[in-house]
Amino acid sequence: MQNMDKNETYKLLLAQVKAMVKDESDAVANMANVAALIQEAFHFWWTGFYRVIDNQLVLGPFQGPVACTRIGFGKGVCGTSWKEKRTIVVEDVEQFPGHIACSSESRSEIVVPLYKGDEVIGVLDIDSEKLSTFDATDKEWLEQIAEVVQSVL
Ligand code: SME
Repeated sequence: MQNMDKNETYKLLLAQVKAMVKDESDAVANMANVAALIQEAFHFWWTGFYRVIDNQLVLGPFQGPVACTRIGFGKGVCGTSWKEKRTIVVEDVEQFPGHIACSSESRSEIVVPLYKGDEVIGVLDIDSEKLSTFDATDKEWLEQIAEVVQSVL
């Protein structure tokens, strides 16, 4: 994996995600295995899901260190992605006003919303311990992965 081009790694990852969720209807099982697949491919600092429950983002399945359990609408990168209904790529978390530091090791981040129709029902959040880890390529592929996941939530 390490020597593969990022696009090639994502291409394989997307195929694995599709194969993994196609015969499973349980949302938690699918989010748990998708987080594991992303980590196996890229070894990011933290990869996981938050779901909208009672108008808050509540921590879901993840891989990595202990994280904040609840995030309000418009708060942090996750809550902003939810509010603005868009993927947010943060090259340096210290430059993002209101970033919520669940871990002091986190340096860059990407958050991708998950939808049911027009409504955000959760987010996929990935943190890196390195600056500027995520770019338009990550955004493009992770949005495709999010589309597969949201279809089974
Ligand atoms: N940094 C996120 C909080 C979640 S953790 O990174 C797992 C944010 O600002 O929303």
